[in-house]
Amino acid sequence: MIETKNLTKNYGNLTAVDNLNLTIKDGDIFGFIGPNGAGKTTTMRILVTLLEPTRGGAFINGLDVTKDGKKVRRLVGYMPDFMGVYDDLKVFEYLEFFAAAFGIERKKRKSIVEGVLELTDLGSKKNATVDSLSRGMQQRLGLARVLIHDPKVLILDEPASGLDPRARIEIRELLRELKRMGKTIMISSHILSELEEICDHVGIIEHGRLVFSGTLEEIRPRLGIESKVRVKVANHQKKAIELLSALPQVHQVQALGDEIAVTFHKDQHANGIVARTLVNANLDIISIQPERLKLDDAFLQLTKGIVH
Ligand SMILES: Nc1ncnc2c1ncn2[C@@H]1O[C@H](COP(=O)(O)OP(=O)(O)O)[C@@H](O)[C@H]1O
Ligand SMILES: [Mg+2]
Repeated sequence: MIETKNLTKNYGNLTAVDNLNLTIKDGDIFGFIGPNGAGKTTTMRILVTLLEPTRGGAFINGLDVTKDGKKVRRLVGYMPDFMGVYDDLKVFEYLEFFAAAFGIERKKRKSIVEGVLELTDLGSKKNATVDSLSRGMQQRLGLARVLIHDPKVLILDEPASGLDPRARIEIRELLRELKRMGKTIMISSHILSELEEICDHVGIIEHGRLVFSGTLEEIRPRLGIESKVRVKVANHQKKAIELLSALPQVHQVQALGDEIAVTFHKDQHANGIVARTLVNANLDIISIQPERLKLDDAFLQLTKGIVH
């Protein structure tokens, strides 16, 4: 649904996007991740026809963005990193304004605006002024605006940045809902963990180059990260350590206070094996906590040592 082929953008001597090849499938949520200045916004602006590439191609649903701009704009909803402010407008006026700008007939505007307000859970705020909304609500309003012409593809530039955890969860839920509606979503962030759990695939970009593309699960082996669990037993900790150390899948066992940290060789079902072993030995388990891949650490490792 979204594709770039050797996409390159120079600003004078600076190569902001460098031979970028991306493929995003229909119905996927794709996380486009990279530090500030990596080239995310530039790539997105090319995809939405606001910027011309220097070299290479960009395609939405097979349409060349440099040749079929009008059709591309009808297919795509773009939420920029900084939205224009229309502070003194009421929420519904703001959305009706954009509905008119998209050429939606006057008769239909009201029901379309009501629909996107409901979807983004802003119905109760329709008479509030835009500047009275919290940052989280303003981001949801930005999404409501992008949805007005019912685009198939959403390109969202850092929609979660600056949001508190609760607002971030609300955005995540909304994105899941949009995926269920069949939209293809490309979403950028400079913080990998911000997009954890919602993305089907991620692409990590640095200095305009793609340094990784795949699923989050694929990052783990690539980084050589082993899976880990933390275990607490009611008693017989020593016995538990002995039993776990003897497992062929286990790389290392450490006692950390009343917890046991178990590091596995590359094994996907780590906690299942731990639980079975302890239960079979009649030990009482208080908790088994898988240690999640620390995405931001993974991100740093992945981009570390890349020389330009
Ligand atoms: N209009 C511009 N003119 C010159 N340089 C720019 C312009 N826009 C962006 N850049 C530079 O291009 C690089 C990529 O920027 P950008 O695409 O905004 O990255 P990101 O969105 O990942 O932070 C940065 O080094 C930035 O300073
Ligand atoms: Mg940016």
